[in-house]
Amino acid sequence: MGKIVGITYDLKEDWKFKEGDPKDANAELDQPKTIDAIEKALISSGHKVKRLGNAFNLLKQINDLGVDIVFNIAEGHRGRNRESQVPNILEMYDIPFVGADALTLGLTLDKIVAKKMFISEGIPTPKFFAATGKEDLKKLNTIGYPLIVKTKHEGSSKGIDKNARVESLEALKARVKYINENYHQVALVEEFIRGTEVTVPVMGNDNPEAMPVVQVCMDNSVELGDKFYSFERLSVQAATLTYVCPAKISKKLEKQLQEIALRVYNCVGCRDFGRVDFRIDEKNNPYVLEINPLPCLIPEDTFGIFPPTIGLTYNDIVNKILDNALKRYNIL
Ligand SMILES: Nc1ncnc2c1ncn2[C@@H]1O[C@H](COP(=O)(O)OP(=O)(O)O)[C@@H](O)[C@H]1O
Ligand SMILES: [Mg+2]
Repeated sequence: MGKIVGITYDLKEDWKFKEGDPKDANAELDQPKTIDAIEKALISSGHKVKRLGNAFNLLKQINDLGVDIVFNIAEGHRGRNRESQVPNILEMYDIPFVGADALTLGLTLDKIVAKKMFISEGIPTPKFFAATGKEDLKKLNTIGYPLIVKTKHEGSSKGIDKNARVESLEALKARVKYINENYHQVALVEEFIRGTEVTVPVMGNDNPEAMPVVQVCMDNSVELGDKFYSFERLSVQAATLTYVCPAKISKKLEKQLQEIALRVYNCVGCRDFGRVDFRIDEKNNPYVLEINPLPCLIPEDTFGIFPPTIGLTYNDIVNKILDNALKRYNIL
């Protein structure tokens, strides 16, 4: 039966740049066309849609929402709990919502917390250390070079530009300082995995299923070697970045990736849908970089790319995500 579905979201255009904000500060936020696409998909299945906007707008209307469920894609603005804000409000007011809860969103947004969970579950993830900038980096680096220096709790390749990959102590020091000063957080320093890159969408709850593996292609090649997904690639050089699905990998590796993706999804308590990012080294060893319990739903991204390979459309997938949540709350 048709439901009234609220959508919560944060638009890029609503970000107010403050002095000192890096240029990619609003990179995670959505474009209106993503909200349009989700709305269109839900309406095509007979639902009614009410746009609720961001956490502040949600709070203003909270006693009179008039929705059966909220389709939440709000990324939030600042701090590592930003993605947890809308889910926390909805949980407080006992309003059903699509996707992961506040705890899962918080612990996965902080990549260091998430990596510690992966390690405790025996899930392969690149070797790493956290750098506040106060330590002796020479002593701290027991990994060797090359390394990649990332933010601890940002997404959408924020803070990752051509200088993120470092091969010397001098470059490492400079990059840790850059992350500490510009993003006001600890730097996550990881062993750099040369090879290929894939992402694995996962859907469902009681028996979640891994979807077809989507491979990242840069400059027309899936053999990335030293290349990586930088903010520039995502924005100004977007044409150099494409996706390949089904991925050009062996059936055996595909199965292994899907199995690991499910373990990651379950270990952090994802709900309804999610996406696990991997690098694969030149010996075919997979490493989990992160899990996104709130992956990008723009139709040009992963959730629009894999559906045709299994005879579905973007609209089908959006509605499956909603149905997973309705079923979870027993309100289908
Ligand atoms: N250890 C690594 N080795 C090689 N490339 C990496 C590594 N970590 C991150 N990258 C590159 O940086 C991109 C963004 O990193 P990721 O950890 O997925 O953060 P996010 O997508 O949240 O910004 C990846 O898609 C990948 O291209
Ligand atoms: Mg990622």
